[in-house]
Amino acid sequence: MGLRIRLVLCGLFMVLMMCCIGIQADQLQVDFYQKTCPQAENIVREEVFKALSKIIELAAGLVRMHFHDCFVRGCDGSVLIDSTPGNTAEKDSPINNPSLRGFEVIDSAKTRLEAQCKGVVSCADILAFAARDSLAFTEMIIPYEVPAGRRDGRVSLSSETFANLPGPNFNVSQLTQSFQKQNLTQKDMVTLSGAHTIGRSHCGSFQNRLYNFNSTVSQDPSLDANYAAELKSQCPQGSTNTSLVVPMDPTSQNTVDSNYFKNILKNRGLFISDQTLISDTATAPLVRANAVFGGIWKAKFYDAMVKMGRIGVLTGTDGEIRLNCRVIN
Ligand code: HEM
Ligand SMILES: *[C@@H]1O[C@H](CO)[C@@H](O)[C@H](O)[C@H]1NC(C)=O
Ligand SMILES: *[C@@H]1O[C@H](CO)[C@@H](O)[C@H](O)[C@H]1NC(C)=O
Ligand SMILES: *[C@@H]1O[C@H](CO)[C@@H](O)[C@H](O)[C@H]1NC(C)=O
Ligand SMILES: *[C@@H]1O[C@H](CO)[C@@H](O)[C@H](O)[C@H]1NC(C)=O
Repeated sequence: MGLRIRLVLCGLFMVLMMCCIGIQADQLQVDFYQKTCPQAENIVREEVFKALSKIIELAAGLVRMHFHDCFVRGCDGSVLIDSTPGNTAEKDSPINNPSLRGFEVIDSAKTRLEAQCKGVVSCADILAFAARDSLAFTEMIIPYEVPAGRRDGRVSLSSETFANLPGPNFNVSQLTQSFQKQNLTQKDMVTLSGAHTIGRSHCGSFQNRLYNFNSTVSQDPSLDANYAAELKSQCPQGSTNTSLVVPMDPTSQNTVDSNYFKNILKNRGLFISDQTLISDTATAPLVRANAVFGGIWKAKFYDAMVKMGRIGVLTGTDGEIRLNCRVIN
């Protein structure tokens, strides 16, 4: 083949490749607001850091909020919408209320962004940035870049939450299915479960493991006995106090690390959905690897957060840019 023909073929190939990349980039882009609102990401980061320097626990709240946004109608900011007289929104589903927290942080970022660049930065993107910055705060590094350009949805239904969000009593096949429904793999599921390295849980999410577990055993035998005793003292049987909470990872509750996986190896996973990851032949090796190679888990975790952030996004002219994250325009 002549050199010229080879060059032409090579050129054609390059054009094809760029088309492919172009199709990808059409969806979401890093530095999406570079021209339209260059300070967007800095403003979000400032507001997140300001809030977290007062209440560091909100970091966990914002990471979970992004997850709950993405799994219900895609990452479209629908979790931020307030209920109205005619509609019970996602945030008022029992799966989110009262446990979800950090809404004020999104509001304060949005207020500043509207003052600076009116109607430009979507609530869905603010939430994706805020989740990243929450992980950045404890790390003191920028963990990953957030491809942006999400548009905001106009629908938020409490009735859609339970069918789309996994529950703390799920077994591995239910967990896998729940993530598969969002085009995430079983590996992504195990990796992302490591988010339970930060934050807290209300007693109600795991109390069934402590008392009257089933008709033959009173306590979940897959739960370490000493840990169960600690949890029982924190969550007394028959307590009506719905404010009681325990750390998800008592060894390091505000640090993003792989202790979550180490805890599972010691039968100290808080939820059935955490502990069960060691009971399945497909997921157990992943748990063991993540426990040992924390740095590798963290890199996978950041990649999986970016992947999760792409679920069902609205782009281009779909949806809207909400002016107030709590209210559709
Ligand atoms: C694998 C299936 C999952 C289940 C069954 C699950 C379930 C739960 C439950 C029941 C809570 C406690 C809520 C409460 O009672 O206060 C919780 C907390 C939390 N979850 Fe998950 N989750 C899962 C995956 C994820 C993922 C993928 C992320 C993020 C990437 C995440 C991030 C968090 C965080 C950060 C908290 C602590 C929230 C806070 O302190 O405010 N979870 N999760
Ligand atoms: C997981 O739970 C579902 C629903 O309860 C059940 O049908 C299934 O058999 C369980 N799978 C395993 C492997 O335990
Ligand atoms: C998953 O992928 C399929 C096929 O590409 C697509 O039709 C579907 O909308 C995706 N689901 C989500 C939640 O992104
Ligand atoms: C109760 O739980 C134990 C431990 O998980 C299990 O082996 C047993 O089969 C369960 N019994 C019933 C009746 O479900
Ligand atoms: C419920 O628990 C919370 C958190 O531990 C505590 O601050 C509060 O005083 C308790 N309320 C009652 C009525 O015991």
